[in-house]
This record gives sequence, structure tokens and C-alpha cells, in this order.
Amino acid sequence: MAMERTAIIAGNWKMNLGPKEASSFVLEILPSLGQITANDPHIMSVLCPPAISLAAVKDVLDSIPVRHVELGAQNMYFAEKGAFTGEIAPGMVKELCNFVILGHSERRTIFGETDELVNKKVLAAFKHALVPIVCVGENSEQYENGETQNIIKDQVSQSLANLTAEQAAQVVIAYEPIWAIGSGQASDAHAAGNVIHYIRHLYHEMYGQKAADAVHILYGGSVNAENIADFIAHPDIDGALVGGASIKHDFIELLRNASKFKA
Ligand code: 13P
Repeated sequence: MAMERTAIIAGNWKMNLGPKEASSFVLEILPSLGQITANDPHIMSVLCPPAISLAAVKDVLDSIPVRHVELGAQNMYFAEKGAFTGEIAPGMVKELCNFVILGHSERRTIFGETDELVNKKVLAAFKHALVPIVCVGENSEQYENGETQNIIKDQVSQSLANLTAEQAAQVVIAYEPIWAIGSGQASDAHAAGNVIHYIRHLYHEMYGQKAADAVHILYGGSVNAENIADFIAHPDIDGALVGGASIKHDFIELLRNASKFKA
């Protein structure tokens, strides 16, 4: 029987909200987010602002202590330090955050990140006690050609290779079909649930029952305050990675509905 997993609603702000805007936005929404997470011990929110705004958001989080609202980075490099202009090291991320998004499809398609690179970053995250939120998902052509499972299998087996079973249990995976990202066309919750079920099956083959029961698998792609109910009510879907709707006040309603409708 599957163990009960905390629902995770993560907000990927992408390249939006610099330090000033970020801190005033979080000041506005945090009391309401905190109320929802205080009333429901089985839900958690992870805010992922741009790297340059992390410290400003951390200041706000420290000034209004609420439980289960966490901070995450959107990316990092795997090396400890050195001549990597423009990059951020895992230890630097850990000074401010407990989570880090890795292998987002925009990193993969625009910046050429491979599964091999994502895997190095995942292993580096664990060295620094960061929880990786690892993104996988097929593009529209692959989707139309019926290649979703093959693509997912390659991405999961390679991006998440070489973990211990204990590490594997702590991973958060986000299934984000690329055709659903920013398009306003979310996947059907049943179809997303099937892919997520398949990811859990792959994970079982890779890391065994305990890790497969524990791993959190989220859906991402045009999630909003209305459709979150369909995703979160699905027994295989543990939450959402939210883009556009995470930088609006609607994010409060989205979290509230996630708490209300979760399986
Ligand atoms: P949207 O919610 O804007 O579709 O973005 C999804 C996403 O890419 C989150 O990482």
C-alpha cells in the first residue's frame, strides 16, 4: 500500500520578479499561504524565484515564520566552486534554500542541458542536502508520435541514475509535458496520472518499493486555481509545479484548492 505523501505545490517563477518585486509579492501572499499550510499539515509550498531574488525572499520568509512554505532555486551548477562565470554552486544555494529545480525543459531546450548534466546536478544536490525537483516531459512531436513513455523512460533512468535508495526516496519529480507549458492547454488529469503512474513503476524497477512509495511526483503545465482540483484529486499525482499562476495572487487560491481537493 502506498504511504501517504505530503502534497507539494511548487511555484517556478522563471525569469520574473527581481528582488524588489519579489519581496513585495511574497510579503503580500505569505500570510495567506501560511494560513493554508498551518491548517493542513499534509500540504507544502515551495517558492522558486530567480536566483538574484532568493535572498530578498528569504528575508521575508524569515520575518514571517510560517511552516511548510519553503524556498527553492531554479537551477545550479554541479561543481563546488571555481571558474564557471554566471553559475551558482550547490553550497551557495544551500545557504538560502532546501530545494532546487533541475533539468527544467527550458534548461534542456534553450540551454542545451542533457540528462547526463542533470544527473551530475542531482548528485551534487544530495551532497549538499538539497532536495532536487527533477523535471521530465515529452515535446508535442514526441507526444503526437506516441513516444511519451520512451522519452520519459530515458529521462528518468538517466537523469536520476546512481542514487542510493535513500536518496531516491527524497527526490521530487515533475512531469511537465512541454506542449502543456505556458500554452493554457493543460494535460488531461487522467492522462497525466497515467504517465506519473508509469514513472512510479520505472522508479520501482530502479530503486525498489520503498523509494517508489516515497518519491513525490508532480504534474506541471498550465496549472491554475481551477484545474488544480482535477490533478490533486488524482491518487497518483502528488502536487504541481506551477509557472505563470505562481506569480499572481491566484497562487493563494490555487494552494487553497490543492489543500481542499487533494486525494
Ligand atoms: P506554466 O504553469 O506557466 O504552464 O509553466 C509550467 C512550468 O514550466 C513550471 O515549471
